[in-house]
Amino acid sequence: MNEIRIAMAKGRLASQAVKLFIEAGINISEKLLNSRKLIFKVLDENIEIILVKPADVPIYVEYGTADLGIVGKDTILEENRDLYEVLDLGFGKCRFALAGLPQQKKSLLQRKVATKYPDFTRRYFKSKGEPVEIIKLNGSIELAPLTGLADTILDIVQTGRTLKENGLVVYEEIKDLSARLIVNKVSMKTSQTEISKIIKALEKAVNGG
Ligand code: PRP
Repeated sequence: MNEIRIAMAKGRLASQAVKLFIEAGINISEKLLNSRKLIFKVLDENIEIILVKPADVPIYVEYGTADLGIVGKDTILEENRDLYEVLDLGFGKCRFALAGLPQQKKSLLQRKVATKYPDFTRRYFKSKGEPVEIIKLNGSIELAPLTGLADTILDIVQTGRTLKENGLVVYEEIKDLSARLIVNKVSMKTSQTEISKIIKALEKAVNGG
């Protein structure tokens, strides 16, 4: 049996990922959520979990340093890596949307778009044939239209609360997002038995056992 290494995104998806693994019968210690340790062995299984910044999960999986990864579809779209996306894990549901100030809607000829997702944003507007200037920010994206840095944002919207509390509105919904299971292309062949077992167990847990 080959050991399987799983790259798990740290942050808001981690606790639900741990919960899903436990439901799938893979006994990941919940201690992992409150520890500064980055590598965890799963008891009684040939599985190792590494905790990785979300944006780095697809990199670990593409290079085969991790066989599997758990990360949001937003990051998968932004990173655009060579890997398999095999399962929608059903949590971390949100969407990509364009948003901005209400009065600016429909009057945008030359847009400045602020985002944490510059590559996805570039491809999105290119596919629509719309010229835009993209401003990459690292957080608090909603500030951009409020301060005049940009007129539009492309960001994730979950509850819509951040937009609402800052007086912004959605111009356009772009894509539904959620946490996904991704697999290295070579591992899928070389560790097929082990990986299929994990995928099946997680799939069953996602569908309610
Ligand atoms: C994300 C996103 C929005 C917010 C959306 O930011 O960039 O600001 O969550 O969630 P809501 O629709 O439920 O309000 P995050 O919390 O990751 O913080 P950041 O501003 O530091 O990126």
